[in-house]
Amino acid sequence: MKQNRITLGIETSCDEVAACIYDSELGVISNVLYSQTELHKKYGGVVPEVASRSHIEKINSIVTDALKNAQKTVHDIDVIAVTTKPGLSGSLLVGLCFAKAVAFAQQKKIIGINHLEGHAFSASIENNVPFPHLCLTASGGHTSLYLMHSFGNYTVLGSTLDDAAGEAFDKIAKMMHLPYPGGPLLEKLAEDVNFHDFFNYTRGNIQTLDFSFSGLKTSVMYDLVKRGFYDISTKNFTETPDGEFQKQVASSLHVCIKDIFISRITRALKEYPKIKAVTFVGGVASNSYLKKSLSEFCNKKKIEFYSPSKQYCTDNAAMIAFVGNYKAEQGLYSDLYLDIF
Ligand code: KG4
Ligand code: ZN
Repeated sequence: MKQNRITLGIETSCDEVAACIYDSELGVISNVLYSQTELHKKYGGVVPEVASRSHIEKINSIVTDALKNAQKTVHDIDVIAVTTKPGLSGSLLVGLCFAKAVAFAQQKKIIGINHLEGHAFSASIENNVPFPHLCLTASGGHTSLYLMHSFGNYTVLGSTLDDAAGEAFDKIAKMMHLPYPGGPLLEKLAEDVNFHDFFNYTRGNIQTLDFSFSGLKTSVMYDLVKRGFYDISTKNFTETPDGEFQKQVASSLHVCIKDIFISRITRALKEYPKIKAVTFVGGVASNSYLKKSLSEFCNKKKIEFYSPSKQYCTDNAAMIAFVGNYKAEQGLYSDLYLDIF
């Protein structure tokens, strides 16, 4: 009798098309991704129409590769887990229509997955993270703190009131005429000046567990103007010949975001003393400086710290398949009326 549940995870919420084969006993057995970063670079951000058109071209081969790498066929799949929200509508629809078509034609079960739930549990793909734990999700579209009670059961403690942390990295990089996505590039620049805090950007004054990164972005912009490097009306950015100024901005920004994260975690740990561990997930969690800083902070507080490996920080299908697997275990299936709203 077949014991293992095989889940096909599909993720197309933004500019990545990804597929994963997850075995309920063995974990991730294949994980394939096609990133459109190069397609969007010249526009300075993701163009929704370009993203969905590219997804249509790629999705069949990405799912086929995931099956091939796992040495499985479509007949081996028990459940299809697919991201249904939040994300770009056109992009989400490509993944969902594909998943529905396969589910209908092959008589497979289907489960719609919230992309943010995928990120929120992504540290558990490779680790046995104890509950209850605190999860800081920081990506390009979202920055939130969750209290994680058990698989599928979590409470939002705070969210960004405006921009996400990744968005702050991306928008500040764009002001300095650096290509999208800004986060990884700014990390490299900041590393060169050892993550020193040159400009002491505003940390804000939020007295809750929420975040606000739009104010930070604006204050960085006015600081660039004040120092004579940026013209708001023409969006012209002038760099020092040695590129030193960009490095100082990148570095100060890192320290500022690190301090904001630590202040919210500190507050949450005080408010919820039963928390056994902290996880740091989402695209921004692939930042080694932030990861190390939060890990050191948790060590000092004698609280366990977990963060996924890079491949599971940025968008991926493994986190979608992982959530699909425990939802299937809980009998939480969707039907073919599944939609993106
Ligand atoms: O989770 P993700 O892949 O997509 C969303 O769901 O948004 O996150 C993408 C975000 C982008 O804003 C990107 O700049 C940021 O994650 N990011 C980073 C790093 N790598 C990606 N931010 C800071 N440092 C990095 N190394
Ligand atoms: Zn994401």
